[in-house]
Amino acid sequence: MTSSEIRQHFLDFFRSKEHLIVSSAPLVAKNDPTLMFNNSGMAQFKDFFLGNGTPPSKRVADTQKCLRVSGKHNDLEDVGFDTYHHTMFEMLGNWSFGDYFKKEAITWAWELLTEVYKLPKDRLYVSVFQGDDKDNVPFDQEAWDLWKPIVGEDRIILGNKKDNFWEMGDTGPCGPCSEIHVDLRPQADIDQQPGKELVNADHPQVVEIWNLVFMQFNRKADGSLEPLPARHVDTGMGFERLCMAIQSKLSNYDTDVFSHTIRVIEELSGKTYGGTQREYSDVAMRVISDHIRAVSFAIADGLIPSNARAGYVIRRILRRAVRYGYSYLGFTEPFMTKLVPTLAMQFADVFPELNAQRDFVATVIREEEASFLRTLENGLKLLDKITADLTATGTKVIDGETVFELNDTFGFPVDLTALIAREQGFSIDEEGYQKALRQQKERSRKDAASSTGDWTELTDIDRVEFLGYDEVVADARIARFRKVQNKQGTQYQIVLDRTPFYAESGGQVGDTGVLEVQYGSETVLVRIADTKKENDLIIHISNDTDLDDVLANHKAVVAKIDANRREAIEDNHSATHLLHAALRDVLGTHVAQKGSLVSPDVLRFDFSHFSKVTDSELAEVERIVNEKIRENIPLDEKRNVPIDEAKNLGATALFGEKYGDFVRVITFDPAYSVELCGGTHVPSTGQIGLFKFISEGSVATGVRRVEAVTAEKALTLLNEQAAVISELKELLKAPKDVVKAVQSLLDERSQLQKKIEALENDKLQQVKADLLTKVHSSNGHYVLVERVEVSSADALKQLAYDLKAKLDNLALVLGADINGKPQLAVMFPDELVKTKNLHAGNVVKELAKEIRGGGGGQPFFATAGGTDASGLDKALAKGREILL
Ligand code: ALA
Repeated sequence: MTSSEIRQHFLDFFRSKEHLIVSSAPLVAKNDPTLMFNNSGMAQFKDFFLGNGTPPSKRVADTQKCLRVSGKHNDLEDVGFDTYHHTMFEMLGNWSFGDYFKKEAITWAWELLTEVYKLPKDRLYVSVFQGDDKDNVPFDQEAWDLWKPIVGEDRIILGNKKDNFWEMGDTGPCGPCSEIHVDLRPQADIDQQPGKELVNADHPQVVEIWNLVFMQFNRKADGSLEPLPARHVDTGMGFERLCMAIQSKLSNYDTDVFSHTIRVIEELSGKTYGGTQREYSDVAMRVISDHIRAVSFAIADGLIPSNARAGYVIRRILRRAVRYGYSYLGFTEPFMTKLVPTLAMQFADVFPELNAQRDFVATVIREEEASFLRTLENGLKLLDKITADLTATGTKVIDGETVFELNDTFGFPVDLTALIAREQGFSIDEEGYQKALRQQKERSRKDAASSTGDWTELTDIDRVEFLGYDEVVADARIARFRKVQNKQGTQYQIVLDRTPFYAESGGQVGDTGVLEVQYGSETVLVRIADTKKENDLIIHISNDTDLDDVLANHKAVVAKIDANRREAIEDNHSATHLLHAALRDVLGTHVAQKGSLVSPDVLRFDFSHFSKVTDSELAEVERIVNEKIRENIPLDEKRNVPIDEAKNLGATALFGEKYGDFVRVITFDPAYSVELCGGTHVPSTGQIGLFKFISEGSVATGVRRVEAVTAEKALTLLNEQAAVISELKELLKAPKDVVKAVQSLLDERSQLQKKIEALENDKLQQVKADLLTKVHSSNGHYVLVERVEVSSADALKQLAYDLKAKLDNLALVLGADINGKPQLAVMFPDELVKTKNLHAGNVVKELAKEIRGGGGGQPFFATAGGTDASGLDKALAKGREILL
């Protein structure tokens, strides 16, 4: 069976068991502050377990792109060294939301593995939760009783909390689980040691393939467990491992999931993949073939490598791969980028987002690689210098601080430093490095420290009703609230049962406003500074203090948003849609949204495009947008449109967004702009009034950013510019053509400049002629010591050289006060330098003492500057003494 067939059989099997097949959520987790990336199949369904939303069906199955590189589940450092861990992997899963439970989950898993995939029964083992006293969760007797007739008692293993109690993160849904393991070793090995002894022992061929989690609890922030409103099933099967088992391979990397990519790496590097555990070139090929998937799919889902948060994680994964390629496969030019087409083709059916953007993804990767390769080169030079310096001191160890700095400041990987150091006969102070690393972690931990309390639940709600598409004021009740302590201080987070407040999403900022809370006989105004989403909850954030009692004992709430601010936001949001369409018109349909910010003051739009947008292109885009504004196109808003119907309407969907089965479609003229969008918009485009760009630039390779203002703000901008122009007209006394007036001013200025230069030159000639009359003769050479008037130190130097040109045998000391700054120049004829051993540099230093300054130069010519012009005469007198 090919990997595609294996995936398809899974989906078909669960479809036949009445499951709805859904698509994978993007790799990047949205609206969940506890999660950066989707790390398991269930992450996108978290709310359904917690009872905060309604699933599209009680039975669901899918294959989910997962990334385990941060937080509770992090496998990054294992990848490459073993043969069955990945950064990105596919998790096949089936779910029951309050529907079937252990019996069906267990029987179906067994049926699929042994009857559809035909895995040999005597190679399978299962584990069951043994119970945990501290959490007060008992041994899973039910699972044991279900498995016993299927596999027999001797194939069941008891597992502790670490192995058999699954938790998504520090908080959230969790429950006991039952895992299925497979033993893929050759029979001879099995005869020597039974597989049962190797379950959960990190053996590369005795691995877990499927985890059946029985979701029953929610782990709260205080560490305690509370029962969930209903019992659910959450299963996850590692697709790559399943392929290894079915295709009878010894490693995930030998399956057809990875073999295409590895073949390309072999061709590019000229090395052969041997599949060994220890050979570094094999490790490197595994690292690269794994990491290119994580990086490519993350970029296709809208992430750009950067120095912050999720973008930084992706950057680090990419760099890890580049470094392995550089060190062990000899890649000194970008190579990862060349793997993208193979990957895109391989996954075109199941994850089409990569194929649809493969040029963009390849470009981003190429630039990122090129820049890191330069970093590596610079790091190597720096390391050379460090080892050379150490050699001079006879030390053989590079200290921990230096290793840390190479890594932290120059991005130079620690293990590479260690490797190169070793090659050159040095070692690194590992302990010192770890210490520096700990110190930095401690610093950033302190910076980021925050604590989130548990929710105080007042009313149980199924879902929050969002009224903000139609209302700006609404009566509501507080469903729950909690206190959060972070760097900014204490915040209250408040959830209402219904609300007009729009929570930040899709680039549109959250609403601000007030909650008028009835508390006893008073009305307390709770100011809302922001509104954010957490999964399906709308969270109103207040920085007001001492609200516990008010919120807990409230009678009623009137929720009011700042309607003027919202209107300004809507102007910008609708303008963003008009802009998006105009950009595609003018620049081409390769333009895809890569980021957006819609605030009351400004709109910012990032999009894929490979060169600077020229002034004339910008002008054309601006013209079209304003034309569409003047057309006063009415908003056509359709809620709950089936996704397929929306796509048929030609709606622009964004990569990296998770859309449900029903979507909202925002249309401004079906022939112009149709977008899937959850944001709020103007009733008709005329309200936007005016659209003006304020900037265009680059944010990352292949991504441009434009910013613009609309309505009142655009008018203010134009008014400010007009005010500047009228002021100029007045100043220049040019009521009509201010540009012409400025041009003639500039012409005049350059003519005057020329005149001044000519006059200064005349004056210098005059000074020179005067000085020549003051030259004495003394002991066979000429001497001149004078104070002169020149406009700069350069002019003084020039003067000295001009005089020497006239009188070869001249010794001179000149002094000048240049706008309060004294300057000296000393010059000796070559002959005096030779016969009397005179040195102009030393003399000028001596003289400069009188003007509180310093200087130096050659034996025959030197200059000095000072700070005290009143000492000039004394300095010249001293000079006279020396020369005469
Ligand atoms: N959520 C479970 C896991 O990720 C199935 O292993």
